[in-house]
Amino acid sequence: MKKDQLSTFLETQNTIKDFESKGLDTQGFCLVPFTNIILEPNGDVGVCRQKGTEFTVGNLRENTLEEVWNGETIRKWRREFLDNKVSNCSSEIKYKKCNLCPQNNQLLDYVEYSEVQSNLPIKLTANFNGFCNLRCQMCDVWEMPNGFYTEENFWSFARKDLFPGLHEIDMLSGEPFLQNDTWKLIDEVSSINPDCKWTITTNAHYQLSEKMKNELNKISFKNLIISMDSLDDETYAKIRKRGQLKTVRETLNDFLSYQKERMENGLSSLSIKVNFLIQKDNWREIKNMIQFCEDREISPFITFCHIPSEHSLLDLSDDERMRIIRSWLGDMDYQTLAKAGRVIRPMVDSLSGIDRAEVLSLIQSLKMSAV
Ligand SMILES: C[S@@+](CC[C@H](N)C(=O)[O-])C[C@H]1O[C@@H](n2cnc3c(N)ncnc32)[C@H](O)[C@@H]1O
Ligand code: SF4
Ligand code: SF4
Repeated sequence: MKKDQLSTFLETQNTIKDFESKGLDTQGFCLVPFTNIILEPNGDVGVCRQKGTEFTVGNLRENTLEEVWNGETIRKWRREFLDNKVSNCSSEIKYKKCNLCPQNNQLLDYVEYSEVQSNLPIKLTANFNGFCNLRCQMCDVWEMPNGFYTEENFWSFARKDLFPGLHEIDMLSGEPFLQNDTWKLIDEVSSINPDCKWTITTNAHYQLSEKMKNELNKISFKNLIISMDSLDDETYAKIRKRGQLKTVRETLNDFLSYQKERMENGLSSLSIKVNFLIQKDNWREIKNMIQFCEDREISPFITFCHIPSEHSLLDLSDDERMRIIRSWLGDMDYQTLAKAGRVIRPMVDSLSGIDRAEVLSLIQSLKMSAV
């Protein structure tokens, strides 16, 4: 087992041990509805990214954040987990085991095991605005509204009651680094809660300026996720419309230098990950993408496009999907395949019985030869 595979395995084992030591059922509990809130550009309030933006627990046009946080929908969700009678998340727990995600479970010690929460969420995903400079073919976030979050419906309450207790902030809607609300949030939270850990997902399609770096010096990073989707100029421009790969390559390099500067100055690493969303146009690039990241000592985050179906590999015929999987298995060793697990799994699951059995046996042989 390679070092990073081993550390993921160990992290998951540690999460299982943490569950057991707290008497939690590894197949019947997830902390997410006890810790997280997601604010969308149209006022929708969600809880879990795995459930998608359609799965909401309220809207700030109708209720306050406090009301939604202890509203009927989220209370029912928590009750299922407290009673180990999972219905809402049964398929996610069975097939994805997302309730055991080590990253999420870093907050396990802070969970209040109660249907009604006496405190506000400790993790905020702040998708304030849809504004973006790109028009990616698989994304409709840039069409979402801007300017929903005002002093009246969010900032004045959040500054006083929400920001001081936050352990983590996640930002990914539209292009966060091109939105004034992002800089306002960084400024306000860092002044009252400097220990909060930030994860920001960005297209890196701009120049990283000194002014930006000075602002980012105020916060501690959990991860900086840079979305690339292709290492080929033409494919990048096709997927990430209005974009050009050259700009992103330069900005990634600038972020790597900035990360070095931060660490020399005693600030947190950026823990950069590069997100590649696998779809019809870029499925041939998985191996190159992983190599690209290894060369720069950054983590690849290989994800799978399910929707819109026109760009998803699942939209292809059985024969075409089988051809793609055979091509991956012929081209990659087991360690590389394991890094692309989020892509391989849905593709294998989509096969009919005989094809699936053949592919699983090929994967098993690769695994044996890797030992
Ligand atoms: C909506 S973007 C916002 C942040 C930033 N604009 C960016 O592109 O990184 C957040 C992440 O969602 C991913 N994404 C976009 N459309 C998607 C889709 N249809 N399925 C899965 N992920 C998607 C992007 O690749 C990106 O990594
Ligand atoms: S089990 Fe999975 S889908 Fe359900 S809340 Fe937890 S992380 Fe989200
Ligand atoms: S850069 Fe991000 S938000 Fe903008 S269109 Fe692309 S995926 Fe969507």
